Amino acid sequence: MGIEVWVPRDAAPETVANPVAASSSAPPAVDADPATPVATGGPDVEGPIHRLDWTALAARVASCTRCELHRTRTHTVFGVGNPDADWMIVGEAPGAEEDRQGEPFVGRAGKLLNNMLRAVGLQRDEVYIANILKCRPPGNRDPEPAEMEACTPYLNRQIQLVNPRLILAVGRIAAHYLLKTSASLASLRGQVHQYAATGTPVVVSYHPAYLLRSPAQKGKAWADLKLARQLVAGSSNDTES
Ligand code: URA
Repeated sequence: MGIEVWVPRDAAPETVANPVAASSSAPPAVDADPATPVATGGPDVEGPIHRLDWTALAARVASCTRCELHRTRTHTVFGVGNPDADWMIVGEAPGAEEDRQGEPFVGRAGKLLNNMLRAVGLQRDEVYIANILKCRPPGNRDPEPAEMEACTPYLNRQIQLVNPRLILAVGRIAAHYLLKTSASLASLRGQVHQYAATGTPVVVSYHPAYLLRSPAQKGKAWADLKLARQLVAGSSNDTES
């Protein structure tokens, strides 16, 4: 399958403004962020992250020192998109371009992600996009487990606020971390999992950066997107009926 696969198929619904400007609604049940001190930071002396609204959450991330990555970042990379999205895309960590611009998936991989979303009828600003880490690991190294643990309360609160019908976990690191498994990505694809912290359904697919290197796998990613679309359509039918 070639790049031409990623073409719009459906008309795009209306889009919604920057979530940081949006007020928070009543949160669904979710586990609390750890009360215990994190890897290299301390306890949440400014109050529990799982109670913050969008504005306070974004501010907390922007000033975060919970792990050592704050020393080398240019910008924190909070997340972007529709605060009421059905789809939430979760990647690994900001790269160089994301660190420079303060927005997730804005480099080459981000452009492919946008095209992939368009192929299932979604504009970038209709979904919510976030990473497990809000700061770039130097040299694009893999995130350390302690860094992901330190950042998890932020992601959990984002998931809680968006309350998406589906999380699309892109890439091995996001999939392994969210699903607490080390199973191969190939074996995780094609099924609906659940993110235990929030009970949100999870579909796993390839990271767009991997697809740039291995375009022959795009057909499988297309199958994953169709599974995700089917799941979201099914869950919205459930709500409507
Ligand atoms: N890769 C990711 O996982 N996230 C980004 O934001 C950019 C590249």
